[in-house]
Amino acid sequence: MRKLILDCDPGHDDAFGIMLAAQNLDLLGVTTVGGNGYLENVTRNALVVLEKIGRTDVPVYPGHAGPSTTELITAPNVHGKSGLDGPVVSEPKRKPEKKHAVDFIVETVMSTDHVTLAATGPLTNIAAALNREPEIAKRVDGLYIMGGGAYAGNWTAAAEFNIYVDAEAAYKVFHSGMPIYMVGVNLTRQCPVNTEFIEKVRAIGNEAGTFGAELLDFFSHGGDAHLHDPCAVAWIIDPSIITEAYLHVDIELNGTLTRGMTVTDLRFLQTSVPEKDIDLSSTKRWDDPPVGSPFRGKEPNTHVAMRLDYPKFVDLVVNTLSKYN
Ligand code: BDR
Ligand code: CA
Repeated sequence: MRKLILDCDPGHDDAFGIMLAAQNLDLLGVTTVGGNGYLENVTRNALVVLEKIGRTDVPVYPGHAGPSTTELITAPNVHGKSGLDGPVVSEPKRKPEKKHAVDFIVETVMSTDHVTLAATGPLTNIAAALNREPEIAKRVDGLYIMGGGAYAGNWTAAAEFNIYVDAEAAYKVFHSGMPIYMVGVNLTRQCPVNTEFIEKVRAIGNEAGTFGAELLDFFSHGGDAHLHDPCAVAWIIDPSIITEAYLHVDIELNGTLTRGMTVTDLRFLQTSVPEKDIDLSSTKRWDDPPVGSPFRGKEPNTHVAMRLDYPKFVDLVVNTLSKYN
């Protein structure tokens, strides 16, 4: 089982990320960051989720309340006021740890081999950990991000919420040399929260299934939602769920319309159209076009998730939730 630290801002879809990670990976800790809701709320929500699935042994470390250079933007329009509206839950019995998330991340990665990081909220904590100890970039097995998009955004036309909220942190992370696996909205749009999926989760019949279905009832917003965050965790658990392209990604900080965009260099794929038209099985490499060719593109730095095996993903969610008592 791969060792994981999950940095998140629960968040309905983050909650599914936690449930997948706690059952299928060696979850060393959950760290929280201001994003979907204020830090106090998302930390409470992380404790609620772990209590629901009987995993009160997994420590929760609160991190940064918001970006260091801009004001925090939250998403009550998506996740409700609490950040996890929908299911009626009691206050968690457990308190979060006293240690700061950034201390936990740095200490754990520096003292433990083969730690994988997943970040399903703004990248504020991960950037702060890199500022504190740049060596963590080389020590981790990988950083799996839900954020950005190879073609488009959701919060703005160009930018996805997690990257938009702390674009400076994202810039730091994408320039750190860490092996990055990016699950953007181009991928998660292939993961609809439809009635069939919700009813499969409800039919599990245990407490985790009922909780999951109630989360999805709220989160589906009448059928328009996509289950973003657990796609990144699923990729760690079963790499065959996602097909990737290795590409160059950079973060736009200054665009008047494009701040927070994950500018993805698709030039060597010789396309700028949706993934169904891209031949990902091609043996073409980014450096195949000759030096100086406008089609060569920039040297890849990011494993970009392009295609999701949705039936496999749904099975993973249903099987995982079934295993909780
Ligand atoms: C991302 O934003 C949040 O609302 C979700 O939890 C997810 O991490 C999707 O853009
Ligand atoms: Ca999230």
